[in-house]
Amino acid sequence: MTDAAPDSPRAPAVGVDSGPLPIGDFTSPVRDERTAAILGAAVGIGFTVCFATGVLSHLIQDPPSWFLWTSRPAGLYRFTQGLHVVLGLALIPILLAKIWTTYPHLFSWPPARSVAHGLERLALLPLLGGALFLSFTGLSNINVWRPWDFDFRSGHYWAAWLVIGAMVIHLTAKWATTRTALTDPASLGIEPSVGQSPGLDRRSFLGAVFATSGLIALFSVGQTFAPLRRLALLVPRRPDIGPQGFPVNREAASVGMADVDAAAYRLVVDGAGVGRPLELTLDDLRSMPQREAELPIACVEGWSSSQRWRGVPVRDLLAQAGAGDDAEVTVVSMQDSRRLKTSELNRWHAHDPDTLLALEVNGEVLAPDHGYPVRLIGPNRPGVMQTKWVGRLEVT
Ligand code: HEM
Repeated sequence: MTDAAPDSPRAPAVGVDSGPLPIGDFTSPVRDERTAAILGAAVGIGFTVCFATGVLSHLIQDPPSWFLWTSRPAGLYRFTQGLHVVLGLALIPILLAKIWTTYPHLFSWPPARSVAHGLERLALLPLLGGALFLSFTGLSNINVWRPWDFDFRSGHYWAAWLVIGAMVIHLTAKWATTRTALTDPASLGIEPSVGQSPGLDRRSFLGAVFATSGLIALFSVGQTFAPLRRLALLVPRRPDIGPQGFPVNREAASVGMADVDAAAYRLVVDGAGVGRPLELTLDDLRSMPQREAELPIACVEGWSSSQRWRGVPVRDLLAQAGAGDDAEVTVVSMQDSRRLKTSELNRWHAHDPDTLLALEVNGEVLAPDHGYPVRLIGPNRPGVMQTKWVGRLEVT
């Protein structure tokens, strides 16, 4: 949150108004403990929600042995990841305002008054750097602009842990001041907001910051909340634009799947978990009982779009192949890129009646970009795990 009262720009303590950049040189009256406490609380709560939803997304994609992701409710991941991205974007102005409010304290002198104070100030490095890093990499990633050499998911993931750790240290150090600044500002000598100075007062400053944040959320949330899709002006995707009326991240041509020979197509169902391996043509699949389900494609980048899918339930194929009730499946794509070539169906997803090998969407045969001739679509899964151009189910 913010430094204790003696460090404030209005009331520099002995020794802190010396050094290379005296804190008293920063004169804005908006920079007080109450402003910093309000912004800090918002950043703290927002980052905690982003952390929880982000770690959840990580666990779903790379599940450790103790984690089994549910297939219901069907739109849960759509909600958690949509929240992650919209909230992350809306936090950017609040984070910047928090940094602006408190950065004069970075120059307070002497740099450390005690070992504990020194450690607390050292924790500002990962906190500040990490928070800016998360915002920048997140924002660039959803805009598919990745001017770096590292793997986005690993960098963003480990930075999140670093930031949350540093945030706990920071919160612990600033807890008392924050509480007082929020509940009893007069005891810190903090003046009421209105009429505080001829310039910008606290209420106007905070109003401007939170209004900016609200507008960012309003102009982004349409990427996942269809009724506001026309307002999705600050994000690269609208849920109703793309082949067959919804977006595509990976196009068929980019992975050699633009021209699949339907006559030569075979779906193979095999692996240690099956009693009778299957090899099915497209006509075999079409002649099996079909099921329809309204399910979202919920991209890790936060956009999502619901469609009506039709195809063969994976569990029917498993039953036909003699697989057990707890069978798990690796879904393998025919694409020629190794990235996102496979996805896992845990036992709940594999046996959910709405987990389909879809042949149609909204009454039309799938377009190549949506995975023609056969794609996986199941409830409550990230879009990257809804494998397209499926050629094989490996059952264990
Ligand atoms: C502008 C702000 C942000 C945006 C736009 C953003 C965007 C994203 C995106 C698109 C992903 C999915 C990556 C993928 O699975 O391919 C993601 C994952 C994640 N985010 Fe953020 N994020 C932001 C801020 C934050 C913040 C503030 C935190 C934590 C405090 C955070 C923590 C995480 C974590 C832990 C993951 C999981 C990474 C993984 O799968 O390994 N993000 N974020």
